[in-house]
Amino acid sequence: MRLAHCSDLHLLSLDGVRKLDFANKRWIGGVNLLTNRGRHYHTEAFEDMVADLNAVGVDHVLCTGDVTNLAFEQEFRFARVRFDQLTHGPGGVTVLPGNHDAYVDEGRVHFATVFADYATTDPGWAWDDGDPSPWPIVRVRGPTAIIGLSTSFQTPWFTAYGRCGEGQLKRLGQALSDPRLAGKARVVAIHHPPAGRRATSRIRGLKDHDAFAQVIAQHGAAVVVHGHEHRDLRERLPIPSGVVEVLGVPSGTYEAGKPEKTARYRVFEIEGDQVISHHLRVWHRDRRSFERDDHEPAASAASA
Ligand SMILES: [Fe+2]
Ligand SMILES: [Fe+2]
Repeated sequence: MRLAHCSDLHLLSLDGVRKLDFANKRWIGGVNLLTNRGRHYHTEAFEDMVADLNAVGVDHVLCTGDVTNLAFEQEFRFARVRFDQLTHGPGGVTVLPGNHDAYVDEGRVHFATVFADYATTDPGWAWDDGDPSPWPIVRVRGPTAIIGLSTSFQTPWFTAYGRCGEGQLKRLGQALSDPRLAGKARVVAIHHPPAGRRATSRIRGLKDHDAFAQVIAQHGAAVVVHGHEHRDLRERLPIPSGVVEVLGVPSGTYEAGKPEKTARYRVFEIEGDQVISHHLRVWHRDRRSFERDDHEPAASAASA
């Protein structure tokens, strides 16, 4: 089983820019977007990634959020059209929301509407604890169980932090310990960084990263993947039998002359309940292609 992980596409519809409604918080993002993002984040990178994903034969694609910039409905629709080019279909592609997809509160509604079938939980995994939130979602595909969290909501200006929330963390523990996932490689997916220095940032971090770490410490996981920082990040969380790797992938569409941040995605090779190796595929804008980056050593993930 091969699982691809991408993140932070920030797909930009020029049509959308023209129609920007700069009411409330959006104007900051709008200015930022017009001055920077449009030059640095390239929709054609994601189009090339989709072609690559269709060609290299991954079994499932996972995107950990920030598919848009300002959470406009038309941005979600613009992004959806590109995701729909994946031959895997919505059942073979899992998309989580990031903070930009919840840039204003109604973004969460647009995500839930436009990306509904990319973020449905499997039958039998609806939560019955009285909380109407569907998160986390659980999607079992072959030997892999993806448990996807939602950590994003509208935050004050100049901040971009996230939070799992007590209820969602309780459910995460329930999912990780559910006998239906015994023997599966449990992949925990989250937008915000849940470990290391960046998790502790009061501006951009994950507020309840300690509580998240406790759940992982108690129940383990094959790997934790995240986005948000647009950097190749590697952290570890302790579990009684060792550690769990926590891997952040850079943006899937960024290209602005910084090789370490150039658009990429990661491919995990999964066997049994373990990640046995992973590698990166990086965008070569001049060739309009994604190619394997052999500078990253194939690493064994920690015990499940
Ligand atoms: Fe992002
Ligand atoms: Fe983000």
